[in-house]
Parts: sequence; structure tokens; C-alpha cells
Amino acid sequence: MRLLVTGGCGFIGSNFIRLVLREHPEDEVINLDKLTYAGNPTNLREVEKDPRYSFLKGDICEPSDVEEAFSLRPDAVVNFAAETHVDRSIISPEDFVRTDVLGTFRLLEKARESGVRMLHVSTDEVYGSIEEGSFKEDSALRPNSPYAASKAGADLLVRSYVRTYGIDAVIVRSSNNYGPFQYPEKVIPLFVTNILEGRKVPLYGEGRNVRDWLFVEDNCRAIDLVLRRGEAGGIYNIGAGEEKTNLELTRAILEIMGVGEECIEYVPDRPGHDLRYSVDSSRVRSLGWSPRRDFMAGLRETVRWYSDHREWWEPIKSGDFRRYYLEKYGDI
Ligand code: NAD
Ligand code: DAU
Repeated sequence: MRLLVTGGCGFIGSNFIRLVLREHPEDEVINLDKLTYAGNPTNLREVEKDPRYSFLKGDICEPSDVEEAFSLRPDAVVNFAAETHVDRSIISPEDFVRTDVLGTFRLLEKARESGVRMLHVSTDEVYGSIEEGSFKEDSALRPNSPYAASKAGADLLVRSYVRTYGIDAVIVRSSNNYGPFQYPEKVIPLFVTNILEGRKVPLYGEGRNVRDWLFVEDNCRAIDLVLRRGEAGGIYNIGAGEEKTNLELTRAILEIMGVGEECIEYVPDRPGHDLRYSVDSSRVRSLGWSPRRDFMAGLRETVRWYSDHREWWEPIKSGDFRRYYLEKYGDI
């Protein structure tokens, strides 16, 4: 199969491309990525010389870039490309509406024209927050941040293209991913690298918010399975069942890294901060998927990766990200 992967230079996309090239020797991958601040070509250094891999720098919102990618005649498209950080969507939502909604629309148009399957990568955040129980795939969408609302907008467009034009599209909605190559604006790599730099970790509010932590490779295996075996028009939640409050998560990181609670700096809460995400993953599990990484093992592996790959994150943290960090967190 020849796959067109968008956003493949980001965190999950790069892990997905490595997995596909490793596990499907007959597959080829074309990676269309705009290389925003979050896109890092070194994430794919391991595969860049593989003749089955090719890279196109381009924007999913630009019809000519999407046209060029589809002219390479992919058999399917997997859309990871998005603006992804909730805090940035609160500061500056426009790019989120553009890429996450308009970009998905451009891909849907080409998927409709070419008749190829499109797997759209969504998020558990489209459902909003839930105090008890778990969302199922047919639960109402109640997004609470501009990021989540943009992703929900894209999901509704996908649904409408399935219903109206009968295109072959599937949606995956996963919980919080963690693991190697995650940009250090997200909580786990931010906290781990801050401790490695001798800084404190900025915990929002009282640290009571709950997230379900899914190791990135486990998510990529689920996405790969849904791509090949998912029912046309189907939606699949993907969660690990590893729910932790942010305080529990922070304490686990501190324990692994051998530092104490004095490293926590409680900071003002995120506006509109969703208390808890939880999805029911029985549908993807019925396809034969289950997560392989236990939470503490995955977290230890992740801490080790950031400790061993300072050359990957130090340039990021000392570059443009530094200004973003100082404006947001001050001198923590
Ligand atoms: P990321 O921010 O690490 O990477 C995003 C990638 O998309 C980057 O390589 C960037 O250059 C590229 N990109 C952005 N705008 C583009 C555009 N207009 N055209 C082409 N490329 C563009 O993101 P991630 O964390 O790997 O998330 C990937 C997908 O998974 C997103 O759709 C996100 O909503 C979804 N998701 C992420 C998580 C998570 O925990 N990280 C969980 C659930 C769902
Ligand atoms: O649930 C899936 C979503 O998970 C994805 O769709 C998003 O793309 C991804 O960014 C992630 O969103 P979150 O907002 O849950 O992730 P983040 O790492 O930003 O924050 C995780 C939790 O940690 C959240 O409750 C806020 C808190 N937090 C975050 C940061 C950056 C802090 O306490 N301090 C921080 O500095």
C-alpha cells in the first residue's frame, strides 16, 4: 500500500511512519508536512534514506500542495497534520481553525475525487469533559477549547462526506499520547526536560485534572489496524485505561527522576480546563487491539529517552520556544 501521511514530521506522525515502514515491508510512505514549529525532519532521520519513504514540504490548506501529493497516487491518506496544543489555541486560535478545519476539508475533497480511504486522526477532546464513566463513539461532541472545537469541526466534515458523498473515511479519537519525539510544550516532555535542566515543573491549578495516558507506539498500532481493518464510515476511540490526575502523573515523574515535591510550582489554571477525559475503547479492542505498554514502564522509557537525547530537545528549548515559555511561565 502507498500511504500519504500528513503531519508526519510531528510526534505521533513520525512514530507512525517508523512503525509502518518497519512492520509492512511492502508499504511506501509519502509524508506531506508544512514544517511548522512542531514539525521536525530529524524525527525521521532513521528512515529518510529508505527508498520507500519520500517527503514533500507542503500545507494541507493549499490546494496545489494537496494536488501534488495526490498526483503520486496514494492508496490511502492518514491525516495527522494539525495545530495541536490547547494552550496555544487559547492564545491564538486562528491557525487551529485554518489547519484543523480547512486543511481537513481540502483532503476530503481530494479523497472524494480519487476514491481513496481517508483515516482522520481526531482526539478524545472533541467529547469534552466527563466526571464519571466514559464516552462512546456516538456520544455528543461538546468541545471546550478552540483546539477541541476545530478538531470537532473536522470530524463533522468527515461525517458529512461519508453521508453525502459516500467516501470511505474512518476517524480515530485517542486519549493523551506520550513517548519519544513529543514536542516539549506538552506536559510530560515539558516536566521531564525542566527537571533535567534543574528547573521546577509548572502544575496547573491543584493538579486534579485527569488524563488517560497512552504510549505513542500503542496508539500507532491501533491507527494502523483501523486503517487496514476499520469499517468504512466508522469511528474508533483509543484509550489505554491509564487514568491519572496531573498530580499523580507529576509525582510519578518526580519519583522516576529522583527529585522531591519541592520541584512542583503550582501555577494559575488553564482557562476552560477540562477536568477529565475518558473514552470507551471496546470497539477498537474488538478488532484485536490492546495497549502493550504499562504506564510506569512507558513513563520510565520516556524519561530515559529524553535523558539520552538532549541533542534533540535542547535546541528546541533554547530556540523560539524559549520566548513562548518565558511569556507563559516566567522564570520557572
Ligand atoms: P504535533 O503538533 O507534534 O505535530 C503536528 C504536525 O503537523 C507537525 O509536523 C506540523 O509541521 C504538521 N502541520 C501542522 N500544520 C500543517 C499544515 N497546515 N499542513 C501540513 N502539515 C502541518 O502533533 P501530534 O501530537 O503528533 O498530533 C498528531 C495528530 O494527533 C493531531 O491531529 C492531533 O490532533 C491528534 N492527537 C494528538 C494527541 C496527543 O496526545 N498528542 C492525542 C489525540 C489526538
Ligand atoms: O486528549 C488528547 C489531547 O491531549 C490531544 O488532542 C492534544 O493534541 C494534546 O495536546 C493533549 O491535550 P492536553 O491539553 O490534555 O495535553 P497537555 O500536555 O497540554 O496537558 C496535559 C495536562 O497537563 C492538562 O490537564 C494540563 C496540564 N498541564 C499542562 C501543561 C503544558 C499542566 O499542569 N502544566 C503545564 O505546563
